[in-house]
Amino acid sequence: MDILAIESSCDETAAAVIRDGREIISSVVATQIEEHKLYGGVVPEIASRRHCESIVGVVDESLAKAGMKAQDVDAIAVSFAPGLIGALLVGVNFAKGLALALGKPLIPVHHIRGHIAANYLAHPELEPPYLCLVASGSHSHIVKVNSWTEFETIGQTVDDAAGEAFDKAARAMGFPYPGGVHIDRAAKTGDRKKYQLPHPHTANPYDFSFSGLKTAVINLIHNAKQKGEEIDVNSLAACFQYTVSDILTQKFITAAKESGYKTLALAGGVAANSGLRSMLQQRADYNGMKVYYPPIELCGDNAAMIGCQAYYEFQAGHTAGADLNAVATMRLDRVTW
Ligand code: KG4
Ligand code: ZN
Repeated sequence: MDILAIESSCDETAAAVIRDGREIISSVVATQIEEHKLYGGVVPEIASRRHCESIVGVVDESLAKAGMKAQDVDAIAVSFAPGLIGALLVGVNFAKGLALALGKPLIPVHHIRGHIAANYLAHPELEPPYLCLVASGSHSHIVKVNSWTEFETIGQTVDDAAGEAFDKAARAMGFPYPGGVHIDRAAKTGDRKKYQLPHPHTANPYDFSFSGLKTAVINLIHNAKQKGEEIDVNSLAACFQYTVSDILTQKFITAAKESGYKTLALAGGVAANSGLRSMLQQRADYNGMKVYYPPIELCGDNAAMIGCQAYYEFQAGHTAGADLNAVATMRLDRVTW
């Protein structure tokens, strides 16, 4: 089964052709980052307009790379929630029009379910049940993946998402948007013990809180400036990255131990972080657990992961009609359309 998948939930317009849920026939991602960089973050209005301009070209390119015409695909999939509403609407409307014109099924995909599915594209042996840590620009979740389409969130952020904290801390350190990758790079030559950052407490032990940590970075920089002291940015980046990774992995491994999981997966944009990957690997090895990581190019937003999850949604009978709408916020374990 060949699925043409479309993704437009934030600042990447993407399309992909995926065969039987596991094979990438083509994948095209047009990023708007350079433009949003000027404003220090994603400007929703600009994102919608750029999706509108790029979507036809991106879909055409993904079909051309696959050596296919639109009528050759068996279904159209689209990321319909959660995300920036104006951005999502572009992809949803385009997918609806295409499915209608071609007389093909329309498969709605929850964006975060897509991030989790990115792992299936690289690891043919991975199948539910397993425990997944999702760390993206707007989500931080510990999720029980009970089946291909059944999920249970057992922990989540009570304030900022991990990626959001990376981006805000990076901005305070003087890095451009999106800052996660810059912190990752800077941290490689820093001394993480040079600074101390807090481990915020949460009532539910599997929940996360990153806003205090971000504020601590901002205050530390502010205080140093007032005293005329210079900040060692690489060391602060190393300390921040270590602290976020420590919080994420500690809670994730504890949840895995307490629920008896031996198979783990990491997903979302922050899954690209080298410090997080190596810390998680070490702690999983120590506890006799196996961790799956998406390849770096599939950690951020892309349509291949949407096409992959769409295959399983379709098997479960999850298709939408012409009244499908985009939804800005939706739990990944309570998906409706
Ligand atoms: O999953 P994603 O593409 O978007 C959402 O669905 O939210 O995640 C984007 C986030 C950004 O916050 C970005 O800074 C972060 O992922 N990110 C990283 C790295 N690469 C991307 N954070 C830390 N280290 C990285 N190497
Ligand atoms: Zn995403």
